[in-house]
Amino acid sequence: MKFQGSDQYVATADLMLAVNAAATLQRPLLIKGEPGTGKTMLAKEVASALGRPLLQWHIKSTTKAQQGLYEYDAVSRLRDSQLAGIEGSERVRNIENYIVKGVLWQAFEADEPVVLLIDEIDKADIEFPNDLLREIDRMEFYVYETRQLIKARHRPLVFITSNNEKELPDAFLRRCFFHYIKFPDAETMQKIVNVHFPTLKKDLLSAALKNFYDVRNLPGLKKKPSTSELIDWLKLLLAEDVPVDALQSKDEKVSIPPLVGALLKNEQDLTLFEKLVFMQRNNR
Ligand SMILES: Nc1ncnc2c1ncn2[C@@H]1O[C@H](COP(=O)(O)OP(=O)(O)OP(=O)(O)O)[C@@H](O)[C@H]1O
Ligand SMILES: [Mg+2]
Repeated sequence: MKFQGSDQYVATADLMLAVNAAATLQRPLLIKGEPGTGKTMLAKEVASALGRPLLQWHIKSTTKAQQGLYEYDAVSRLRDSQLAGIEGSERVRNIENYIVKGVLWQAFEADEPVVLLIDEIDKADIEFPNDLLREIDRMEFYVYETRQLIKARHRPLVFITSNNEKELPDAFLRRCFFHYIKFPDAETMQKIVNVHFPTLKKDLLSAALKNFYDVRNLPGLKKKPSTSELIDWLKLLLAEDVPVDALQSKDEKVSIPPLVGALLKNEQDLTLFEKLVFMQRNNR
């Protein structure tokens, strides 16, 4: 079992190495990187490349570790007990009927090894990663209500993504293999664009990429545009049939690209960029 990228997803050699290392170690792969550099998509692509089902758990600020294991639905049980006739009371008596399985439980009881994505773990509170240590390590947990021990039938391949909004605890880090997705260089970026727009004309692509890196390399930007923003922008350029000339200035100087709203997402960055263009024009 080796992951080698897919025709939808461009994986660099070090990323493939990391995926395979995590699989060998049987530890979760912790992936960090700027927003839009393909962290979430990686888990999906690995699942489809290996032909395994994908289970996703999207973490929010209110998510608790317990929700990934199971939840006991006491409210339904109470309501049923009030409404139940004789057959109904049978159901109410059995607490198992009110245990709702979480994503981890589903992954543990699956018939085949699955890929489990725990997406954006840094959105949860500080305790969240610590609360999952045992489950991630031993791949088991205890259901107190029914006195059952749930053990994974097959160890899932776990992907955990983070945008670095919070530090992760050391004890948690110890259990993971770590990979940082670096922002793609121009060559990799060209491959990524090719995956999305196989018929894009070469001159339009190189002009667009130059514009994109000009914007991205501007020092002091609050929010740098990322891969997914480049893809959106190219989609717009194609939809609006923007000619190559509109992306190139005759004098090789930086200019404000059309539909710049796809790349720059706040007014400070836009002002900064306009200033740069203005200064370059005046230096001529
Ligand atoms: N290596 C890649 N190959 C192909 N497409 C890519 C690649 N990296 C990014 N993309 C494009 O960027 C989009 C965003 O990727 P994704 O949602 O996985 O980013 P992310 O890192 O999870 O971002 P966030 O941190 O905001 O959740 C993808 O839908 C895809 O179109
Ligand atoms: Mg994501």
